[in-house]
Amino acid sequence: MSRIDTLMGKMTLAEKLGQLTMAASSYTVTGPIIAGDSTDAIKAGTIGNLLNMVGAAHVRQMQRLAVEESRLGIPLLIGLDIVHGHRILFPVPLGEASLFDPETWALTARESAMEAAAEGLAMTFAPMLDVARDPRWGRSAEGPGEDPWLGARIAEAKVRGFQGADLAAADALAAVAKHYCAYGAVTAGRDYASVDISARTLREVHMPAFEAAVAAGVAAVMPAFTDLAGIPMTANKELLRGWLRGRWGFKGVIVSDYNAIAELINHGIAADLAEAAAHALNAGVDIDMMADAYRHGLPIALERGLVAMAQIDESVRRVLTLKEQLGLFDHPYRRGTTPESNATLTQRRRLARAVGARAIVMLKNDKETLPLPASLRRLAVIGPLADAPAEMRGPWWGAADTEGHVSVLSGLRAMLPHSQVLYVPGVAIESEDVSGIAAAVDLCATVDAIVLCVGEAAVMSGEAASRAHLDLPGKQREFAEAVLERARASAKPVIAILFSGRPLVVPWLVESADAVLAAWFLGSEAGNSISDVLTGRVSPSGRTPVTWARAEGQIPIFFGERPSGRPANPKDHFTSKYLDVANEPLFPFGHGLTYGLFVYSNLRVTPADVEDIDTIQIRVDVRNVGARAAQETVFLFTHDKLASVARPLLELKGFTKIDLRPGETGSVSLSLPATELRFLGPELEPVFEPGEVEILVGPCADRSRLLVGTIRLSWSRPC
Ligand code: BGC
Repeated sequence: MSRIDTLMGKMTLAEKLGQLTMAASSYTVTGPIIAGDSTDAIKAGTIGNLLNMVGAAHVRQMQRLAVEESRLGIPLLIGLDIVHGHRILFPVPLGEASLFDPETWALTARESAMEAAAEGLAMTFAPMLDVARDPRWGRSAEGPGEDPWLGARIAEAKVRGFQGADLAAADALAAVAKHYCAYGAVTAGRDYASVDISARTLREVHMPAFEAAVAAGVAAVMPAFTDLAGIPMTANKELLRGWLRGRWGFKGVIVSDYNAIAELINHGIAADLAEAAAHALNAGVDIDMMADAYRHGLPIALERGLVAMAQIDESVRRVLTLKEQLGLFDHPYRRGTTPESNATLTQRRRLARAVGARAIVMLKNDKETLPLPASLRRLAVIGPLADAPAEMRGPWWGAADTEGHVSVLSGLRAMLPHSQVLYVPGVAIESEDVSGIAAAVDLCATVDAIVLCVGEAAVMSGEAASRAHLDLPGKQREFAEAVLERARASAKPVIAILFSGRPLVVPWLVESADAVLAAWFLGSEAGNSISDVLTGRVSPSGRTPVTWARAEGQIPIFFGERPSGRPANPKDHFTSKYLDVANEPLFPFGHGLTYGLFVYSNLRVTPADVEDIDTIQIRVDVRNVGARAAQETVFLFTHDKLASVARPLLELKGFTKIDLRPGETGSVSLSLPATELRFLGPELEPVFEPGEVEILVGPCADRSRLLVGTIRLSWSRPC
């Protein structure tokens, strides 16, 4: 008999429900807390999993209670939201998506897993895979951006990185793909609000990243808080049992979101905790995080005949199997015994700095304002985010302290020891106080250049951080406008550094500043990463994974829109456009300048006649006509012009990178299996339709900047 069978034979109902329960310690609280000390329950075997516990000693102490003092000695599964680092932070996920580099996405997850596992943790509630096309939603910061294909690539990389090759390894974490599904489509971008989208959008936009995570072997999945057309995801049999377990063959654990099972009562589909617990269990949710609905509700649900013991057993078996796969039975203390060396931490910081620099998206750089000239004598570094080390962490800072993160001011002072780097905050991020503006404006007249650091506070994105106004908060606009005006009058360049967990809507700033960097929240080394780009030590290479709107009224705005029957035409009134703003975004998906300048030519697509079994080879020449070495990101899109279902104007199908010196030409190749040109037909089943498909290659999702080739698709044999 296997260890799990033996244990199952011995377990009481209370012990089984303990394995299906995850309780929080009081370190980080992300929702309503169920008060009380868990230690007795751990010893009694009625709490089998913990979240929000940090510090190797604490973790070990709790694990010891379970392993040595509970009747059956079943180890705890202990998890935390390690979203972009544990203590040393990398850029927030949306920022990291800007790298378009699967190897680095995997590497930062690997490093985060090593750091967290060294403190005894075995699970991270990451990656967050919710495609988001509405920047009002604060959780955009945690996810992959607007595109499903990109989301799927990030999913694979992150699962690989967090879990490593062997879940039982001392430095592996079980990843949790969250929040399944379509959480990013909350009504009006308001967190936790209802979701109601078409089955096609669900399948084409919101499900692919989760399918990819499952294919990559993700250990666990977390359903979203939200409902989908009336069925809360925590109770959604069709999507959990039907799709996730049935069609995709997911064998891992489904862990609820924080208190989500009890919230089924608020959703209006359960009268009490017993009904709520029954709904969740019947849908396939194995672990109840923080609602205590399974421990208290399932015994009643059993009595009422709402659930069967066999279902409880099935979930317990899955949880025990995961603990076994993590090596927790054989080596419960293996994680958390060896602290990491200082050399490892130094290395990791170096990586955070490099990744941070690559996550920066240079939105604008007029007249080569950047990099800063070496002759610079006096530099003003102003604004509420200029010297705000704790803010650099962004949302979901894991176990990172408030101290120890690098601000722009300290980064620049370290990089420019021979220049005078002068600082005034001007205004606070959110306050109404404008009394500091005058000093900042006065300073501007006395310097060679101005670095204006503005944006959101870290807590203004992430969970429960929806915003209806996407301009700079507080009095920052008034401050920035005063600075820009004085700078213009005295012919001083202004470089705006924008901190945010979403694409802000700041066309006025982009219009007036000489250069603009989207710095997202870059994590522990933010100030050094930004200084590397400002000084030219690193040529910026980040590309935005989300479209930037020029007006809030354009939201949702994304490149994968389907064509209109009346495409915008300025000469024709009755066409798809606004009366008061252009249709075009301020910046398209994929936009991002470098210190080079790239010209594309000679697109070659072979074969021209493609059968379903073929792989299409795409080559294009790229020449750096700029004055500096730089890295270009080349995107591959497709457009199926004529199909049984209207297809998006552009679909992302690939990307690659090339480094080129000034004057150098290189050629890049991308390959695209023809099977990737399948889509969901009128019945929402995959179809492969013969006909013409456009292949578009270039620097971003602006059609006017893409080279276009055409292929003809056909079946390899007539059907
Ligand atoms: C969030 C999850 C997170 C959980 C545990 C919830 O409020 O929605 O993303 O994993 O808390 O911290």
